[in-house]
Amino acid sequence: MKVGIVGAGMVGSAAGFALIQRGHAREIVFIDIDTARARAEAEDIAHAVPFAAPALVRHGDYADLDGADVVILSCGVSQKPGETRLALLERNAAVFRAVVGEVMAVCPGAILLVASNPVDIMGQVTARISGLPPGRVIGSGTILDTARFRWLIGRHLGISPRSVHAYVLGEHGDSEVLAWSNARAGSVALTDFAAQIGAALTADVRGRIDTGVRNAAYTIIEGKGATWYGIGGGLARIVGAIAGDEQAVLSVSTVEAEVLGVPDVALSLPRLVGRDGVSATLMPDLDRDETEGLRASAEILKTLVEKITI
Ligand code: 2OP
Repeated sequence: MKVGIVGAGMVGSAAGFALIQRGHAREIVFIDIDTARARAEAEDIAHAVPFAAPALVRHGDYADLDGADVVILSCGVSQKPGETRLALLERNAAVFRAVVGEVMAVCPGAILLVASNPVDIMGQVTARISGLPPGRVIGSGTILDTARFRWLIGRHLGISPRSVHAYVLGEHGDSEVLAWSNARAGSVALTDFAAQIGAALTADVRGRIDTGVRNAAYTIIEGKGATWYGIGGGLARIVGAIAGDEQAVLSVSTVEAEVLGVPDVALSLPRLVGRDGVSATLMPDLDRDETEGLRASAEILKTLVEKITI
């Protein structure tokens, strides 16, 4: 896989580093308006290649994206302490208006993987500007929130987060929905599993996990200014699913013709990810509150995207 990374800030760089560690890319090209930054990140990451799988890591300009299979869009601004993801909307939409056309002119066959926030809306903006079919524009969406959810459940139960099958759906942001009702550990319903091992999921425990997932980014931003390792790992996971044509079920964001009565909206649902990007969307069984939460999340995103002129 040849992977372009537009935006060599912490998120793009962490994604590049994770890709190298996992051997998912044979070539990575960093592009940034700050060329010195792109060069420095590429060089630093290239120095980790002798400890990982062979790959060429370099910086370049848009022409160097020729032949890219996937282009990660991690450009634009990120949240300041206390700022919501949605507050970034206008600034990042302006950046994307400039960037997406440049990328499409060079590698119209690439899958575009959007990481900049608010990621659902930036994904929809990217789909509109590029004219690509929805499955070829993927927002990282709630892949990170799902990881946070599984991590916290795993810690409570004392099991590997990889044995937790639970998803966060909807907006990657404040209105996201933690789908507790269909969560499982191994093949056992989560509540049964928790009861069997004597680690009951009381309302208090659920509340703490909910807050832990929902506020994770705010807490980390307070501490170190931004988040990057978690999302870097998530982006590498998505590229890996594409590279291996895995048809992996991942909670990522694409534009959907209709979600619970809300038309033309981008948000996260469990989706099949493989060589051609997203090939199918799955609608899980949700309880009434979760369904209403997902509808509300879709409505929030829909209202915001309507305000953006492309
Ligand atoms: C995160 O959730 C800020 O969206 C970023 O870590």
